[in-house]
Amino acid sequence: MSLGLSTAGESHGPALVAILSGLPAGLVLDRAAIDADLHRRQQGYGRSPRQQLEQDQVEVLAGLRHGRTLGTPLALLVRNRDHKNWEWGMNPWPPEGEPSGKGTKPVTLPRPGHADLAGVLKYGHEDVRDALERASARHTAVYVAAGAVAKALLRELGIGVAGSVLEIGGERESWEAAIDAARTDRDTVGGVVEVRATGVFPGLGSYASREERLDARLAGALMGIQAVKGIEIGDGFALARERGSAAHDEIEPGLRRRSNRAGGLEAGVSNGEEIVVRAAMKPLPTLMKPLDSVDLATGEPAQALVERSDVAAVEALAVVAEAAVAWELARAAREKLGGDALADMKAAHAAYLERIRTR
Ligand SMILES: Cc1cc2nc3c(=O)[nH]c(=O)nc-3n(C[C@H](O)[C@H](O)[C@H](O)COP(=O)(O)O)c2cc1C
Repeated sequence: MSLGLSTAGESHGPALVAILSGLPAGLVLDRAAIDADLHRRQQGYGRSPRQQLEQDQVEVLAGLRHGRTLGTPLALLVRNRDHKNWEWGMNPWPPEGEPSGKGTKPVTLPRPGHADLAGVLKYGHEDVRDALERASARHTAVYVAAGAVAKALLRELGIGVAGSVLEIGGERESWEAAIDAARTDRDTVGGVVEVRATGVFPGLGSYASREERLDARLAGALMGIQAVKGIEIGDGFALARERGSAAHDEIEPGLRRRSNRAGGLEAGVSNGEEIVVRAAMKPLPTLMKPLDSVDLATGEPAQALVERSDVAAVEALAVVAEAAVAWELARAAREKLGGDALADMKAAHAAYLERIRTR
């Protein structure tokens, strides 16, 4: 028994959708809690005005009755309110009538650092928009909704997950000035986020294969988020400069640890300590002062595409990363504990905790 997640949706298409499979029956979901996470994703200093426009809300199409999961696929939908301005440009069908609104002219100016050039070459598109619409981080909205569902499941097992910002634009505090300076220069900034998970019991993940390693899954899930270019687990890169005697977490009676440099993971398995992971985000590639590029229509030098964009999205990344970690932890917990009904899963959890308590 595992959890499955698939998503679809373009940035300015009609909607984003996610299908979550493998959830136990009887999990109570709170619509306001899911919407609150969607709202958190849209906040943050340096976001574009689109965030005010969207005000995301989740709709549930299947798998839920009167607020309880049915144990069947859960289908979530988040509408793109901005789609009303793109009805011609992003119509799934050949549009009727004269071109109107946004997205009517092909984009031929690929942005360095975005999906534009790789996407048109790979898929044979003529219009860069055919690549950028899906590559855009807009669809992280439904990943955040899925993460909110995962957090509801984890809460039943006493596990909490929280993401936060460590630095933006090289500043560890008062980063608003760094964002303002970048905006003034018509530039962008990146940063670092951290996700911590508390209450994680030992034994999630496995060293049996690399696919089962929880550290690999967490790293893969975080690297799967747009603009993430570096991952650290526990003391990560700093450990490479330590000796073994200063790098490992000694074990005390009661099987407690004196430190948590490993970030709660040894051999790809949770060890009962807090899970600590970090992700580094590059500066966003859409610049109001565009970088050099080439016009794909002429082959001549040109400036890259300029369109409405965030100056920084690190605070949003903290929410998206939190959702990604929550999903992977819920998936690992599901594999460890099984159960068709939430009560079965909780009973397996209690029995497992009792078995390891007596060690
Ligand atoms: C929450 C979030 C918001 C983002 N917003 C923007 C944006 O407004 N403009 C932009 O150029 N890139 C933005 N990005 C980053 C691009 O989506 C990303 O750089 C691009 O898809 C290329 O992928 P890569 O950076 O992983 O190579 C955002 C990323 C995240 C996680």
